[in-house]
Formats: sequence, structure tokens, C-alpha cells
Amino acid sequence: MAKALSEILADDVRAALTAVLGDAARGADPLIRPSDHADFQANGVLPLAKAVKGNPRELAMRVAAVLVGSAGSVGSEGAPDSAGAGVSAEGETEGGEGTEPVVTSGVIAAVDVAGPGFLNLTLTDAALAAQAAERLGDPRLGVAPTGVGRTAVIDYSQPNIAKEMHVGHLRSTVIGDALVRLLEFDGRTVVRQNHLGDWGTQFGMLIQYLVEHPEARPADAEHSGEVAISWLTALYRDARAHFESDAEFADRARKRVVTLQGGDEESLEAWREMVAESKRYFEDVYGRLDVRLVDADAVGESFYNPYLAEVAADLEERGIAVWSEGALCVFFDDIKGPDGDPVPLMVRKSDGGYGYAATDLAAVRYRVNTLKADEILYVVDSRQALHFRMVFETARRAGYLPEGVEAVHVQFGSVLGTDGKPFKTRAGKTIRLIELLDSAVDHAVATVEEKNPDLAAADARTEAKLVGIGAVKYADLSTSRTKDYIFDLDRMVSLHGNTSVYLQYAHARIHSILRKLPPGTPARIHTDLVLEPAERKLALHLDDFGATLATVTENFEPHRLATYLYALAQTFSDFYENCPVLKAPTDAVRENRAALVQLTGETLKAGLALLGISAPDQL
Ligand code: ARG
Repeated sequence: MAKALSEILADDVRAALTAVLGDAARGADPLIRPSDHADFQANGVLPLAKAVKGNPRELAMRVAAVLVGSAGSVGSEGAPDSAGAGVSAEGETEGGEGTEPVVTSGVIAAVDVAGPGFLNLTLTDAALAAQAAERLGDPRLGVAPTGVGRTAVIDYSQPNIAKEMHVGHLRSTVIGDALVRLLEFDGRTVVRQNHLGDWGTQFGMLIQYLVEHPEARPADAEHSGEVAISWLTALYRDARAHFESDAEFADRARKRVVTLQGGDEESLEAWREMVAESKRYFEDVYGRLDVRLVDADAVGESFYNPYLAEVAADLEERGIAVWSEGALCVFFDDIKGPDGDPVPLMVRKSDGGYGYAATDLAAVRYRVNTLKADEILYVVDSRQALHFRMVFETARRAGYLPEGVEAVHVQFGSVLGTDGKPFKTRAGKTIRLIELLDSAVDHAVATVEEKNPDLAAADARTEAKLVGIGAVKYADLSTSRTKDYIFDLDRMVSLHGNTSVYLQYAHARIHSILRKLPPGTPARIHTDLVLEPAERKLALHLDDFGATLATVTENFEPHRLATYLYALAQTFSDFYENCPVLKAPTDAVRENRAALVQLTGETLKAGLALLGISAPDQL
């Protein structure tokens, strides 16, 4: 695996600091950052100089001298009068304890000391080229997996049985799917959990209605997911109407909840049928979205039903939960409602039933004890933040969530319409997800045809699927997830701006360039060439892929990868304008540029794939 240049530099600067300062510098962070004045800058000298009460600029000069040894050059910009003069390569041997020999990587061409003691670092062209050579053609692009041996359980998608999925479920599905791919790439063992809303008192009413109205089912047993959700939605609507208007039906529905929970076979059968029908619909949506979820990942709320009484009893016995106004509750010192009264987590309701919270507590136990989670991620709407805070806190107190296990509410904002209001149809109804995805594909047809008017209609439709679905995912994933985002199909499928279509076309263009190379031209890096500024910029950006992924997985922020990919496509565009590939001045330069083009294509493709978006070679 290739270490990133920023990491190699960090090692070098750390070694140089230690050579100059001895033990005082051990473990110090050299603070390597991208720079506008050079390839990178190291900011770590200043805090260290302060710690040893030294002159930062003088220290920087000495470190610089060690770094370049005799190979490179030390410059100094805008030296304040007090320091800078006369400090040169002698620094290497002069330093008090700094007599140990320093082995550096040799990637540094020049060091400039700037301002009060920043180091501006310029890399050799050979180092940039060598990095690209190591990544090229490697399926991991030289990125080391850092999470091997860790198990991440991820709770996402979570639609509810007998109901339409809404845009919140869409967000959870899209973000969750990207995180699954990213964490797997990081080497973690990922366990997907689709926490379906498949339990609760509403099933009494639904089952009762279905038993009384068998004709509510569609006539044809072999129906589509769309038909499945439409009869279920009608069932829900009609059952609810009866429940509200017919007291006797409501009574039978309440009794049905009891028989269902008592394991009555007729009730269970109707329940299973509704679950199966809903899954038929969910699978249709997942198929259209091209996400990883499969039936085996569906571990719904009902799964935890047998454990709820045990969890409640355990919390009660240990005094973690107490009875209050007939309900079994957990209280928190710092969680209060607007009126100042404490807001409890309700483990058992006053009607004796267990609800959403009890289920989540049982789920934590299962995920820790049985699934062996080291971390549990909940990809759920921000509006449930308080719920998860209370669940996590309770689980900690009870020891269900031991110290070494992390629980994270990976929260996201709402989806808004172009009017900035919650996303609804013009008539104010909830948008049907399948229709929404279909219309994304319809919009994409126009984009595909604009770009390629000669394409046969069927091919345009196939491409539009990749473009339209990619657009929906990318619009979500490229926005910082805690923000609300505006669902605007016209903008999403635009060829201009930060969209997946733009990236997919950049990738296709790269393949078209590679196809036009003279036959037999290898995409090969030459480490002895002098690179143009645009080549250097591209090589540097390509080298940053692994570090980007590290920040993405650290805080579960896919939008950072989107930002990286967009910048990559722009950097590439700049490179291609300034550095002809097909008409390169020499064969070596052409091969080298072809290699950079190819590595850019590989990086774009891999990055988009980690977001769950496909990038075909031809569009
Ligand atoms: N089904 C719930 C909803 O539609 C979301 C479930 C989130 N996951 C969880 N473990 N509570 O709002």
C-alpha cells in the first residue's frame, strides 16, 4: 500500500524535528496541510518552539536544513530581522541533542521558511510520479484498509410495513448504502440491519380489516411492487377510516392486537402477508436504487418482541427505570421539555405495551452481544436525535453498550421542495417514491439525448437510468448530511456544476481519450520527467484520495468524498487543457500523461462506486 505524500512528509518533518530538538519533539504533530505557496506546508514548528521556549523561525530554519540535507535548497521568505540570517545547512549538526543521523524519504525538493516559522514544502517531480505509479492499476488505488478486525453494525433504510416509503427513508437508504460501501472498503466487517417498522398496535386494525375484507387484495397474485404498495396503502386508509368511525370495528381491532401478540395463527398469517407484500415493494425500490440491501438484512422491530419484557424487568430491577404515572420510565438530569419538566424514555407504556424505545434497547443488546458490534450506526432523521440520546444513555447505564462500543446517530436533515418547504406534491400529498425515481430517469433522458443525439431510444433509456438514479443519490450525498437539501431534479441532472452527471461524463471522456491513443501506447509513469504545473496539481490531488477517505469514514461524511471527486474532475479538466496527451511532445511524456489520465479515471470510478454510483466507460 502506498503511503500518501502528506504522511511521508509528516514522517520526514517529525524526524527532522526530533533531530533538532531531541525528546522534546517526539510524538509532536508536524501539522502538514495543503498550501497555496508550495505543495504542502508544515505548521508544527510554531507550537513546538513555544513549548521549548525557542525562537520559532530559527527552529524552522534548522529543521529545514535537516530536511533538505545537501540535496535540496533552503529558502527564506520575508525573514523578520530577528531571525533567519545565517541559518543554513549547519543546523543539521549544530542542534543541541540533534546528533542522531536523520533518514528522510527524499521526496522533498525544496523548503522555504515563511512567516514566523512555517515550512513550505515542495516535492520532487519524481516523488509525485512514483506515487502515481504505485496507485495505478491497483484495485485499492494504494489505499490501505485501516478497519480490519472491526465490526460495524449499520441500521438504515427502515421503512414501515404497509406504508409508502417517504423521502426520509430514501435519504437513510442512500446515505446508509454509501457508508456500507465506504466502511467495507476500509476493511471493516459491516453488518447491515434494516430495522423495519413491522410491529405495533396499528397491525390490529390492519389485520382485522384484511380478515373482514379479503377482497382488498389484488386479484393477481403475481403483481408488481407498485401494485403491492398501492393495495396496502388503500388497506391502511380504509382500515383507519373504519377504526375512527366504527366503534365496534375499533373494538375488534384492539382485540386483534392481543390475539396477534398471543401468537394466534390466523392473525400472524395476515401479518406475514402484509410484511411480504411490503417487502415486494421495498425490493422494487432497492432494485431501482441499486443498493446493497437484501432480504436477510431485514431485521425488523418484531424480531425484538420476545426480549422486551426481559429488558424492561432488568431495567426495573436495577433501578435504571422507575414507574411514573403508570409508565416505566428512565429519567435524565439534563433532558427537560420546554416546560422544564424532565422528559423520560418510556420503556413500558401505561397500557402495558412496549414501544419503539424498548425495541431499540433490546436491539442494542442484540447488536453488541450477538452481532459483536464494535460500533453501531443509526442512519436516521435528525428529528430523532433526542430519542437516540436517551436510548444510548440508558444502554450505557445498563451496560448493554459497553465502554469499547461506540453508538452513533448518523443524523440527516429534511428533504425540501424547490419552494423550500417540506417536499410534497403540488396537491400537498406525500410524493410516491417509485414515481419520484421514474421522473428522475425521465429527466435524465433529456440530458443524455442532449449530449448524444444519435443514441437509439432504448440505449438512451438505459443510460438515463444510471444518470438519473446517480443524480438522486449524488444530490443527497454531496450535501453535508446534517443540512436540509432541496430536491430539484432539473439541477440534479444538469451537466454543469457539482452533479453526478458531470462526474460520469468526465469519466466517460477519460475513456474516450484513452481509446484515441495510438495503438500500443502504454499508460506508464516515467519518474524522470520534469512535470508541468497542471500535471503536478493533478498528481497531488490523486494522491489525496486515501486521506480523503480517512476523513469521510472518521465522521461518516460522504459529502467530503463528493467534494474531492468534483475537485478531481475540475483539476483534470485543467490538466487536459494545458497538457496535450495525444499530441504530447515525446513518447515518454505521452505515456506518462496517459497514465495520469487513466489513474484519474480509476479514481473517479472507484470514488463514485463508493457512493453507490456507477460510471460507465461510454456515455
Ligand atoms: N422506522 C422508523 C421510521 O420510519 C425509523 C427507525 C430507525 N431505526 C431505529 N433503530 N429506531 O421513522
